[in-house]
Amino acid sequence: MTDSLYERLGGTEGITRIASDALDKHLANPQIQARYKHLDNLEAVRQGAANFFIQATGGPEVYEGKNMLETHKGMNIDAAEFMAVCDDILDSLTANNIGQREQEEVLFALYSMRREIIGV
Ligand code: HEM
Repeated sequence: MTDSLYERLGGTEGITRIASDALDKHLANPQIQARYKHLDNLEAVRQGAANFFIQATGGPEVYEGKNMLETHKGMNIDAAEFMAVCDDILDSLTANNIGQREQEEVLFALYSMRREIIGV
């Protein structure tokens, strides 16, 4: 049987690093940095994002935050911003030596969440 995506992304340690790298890319990305720069709970969001991906990819149930609709409701996020976030995450996967097959699975999971995030 194929290992879970959680395992193939490097487990809790690997996913925590990938999620943290992605957030750093968001903070440096002119298209979306304003969404994150002034958060006073940035480190909690960093940990929350890691926990969300750990749980969503088949790891332990560690995410205690709100669902994606509740999290992003009222932010008026558009499709270009959504793509920018996806691109940053894919770049973080590449930087952490994650292969194409796993990247495709992550991209599919991200894309599947679009209706809970864009324009809600
Ligand atoms: C599929 C794509 C996305 C996923 C999986 C995702 C995931 C998450 C998660 C899990 C959190 C909450 C962490 C926690 O509660 O501890 C969060 C928060 C946040 N997300 Fe997203 N996100 C996505 C797309 C976006 C986009 C496109 C934007 C805007 C450019 C965005 C902006 C934010 C902001 C500003 C927060 C912090 C909210 C706060 O605590 O005030 N997200 N996201």
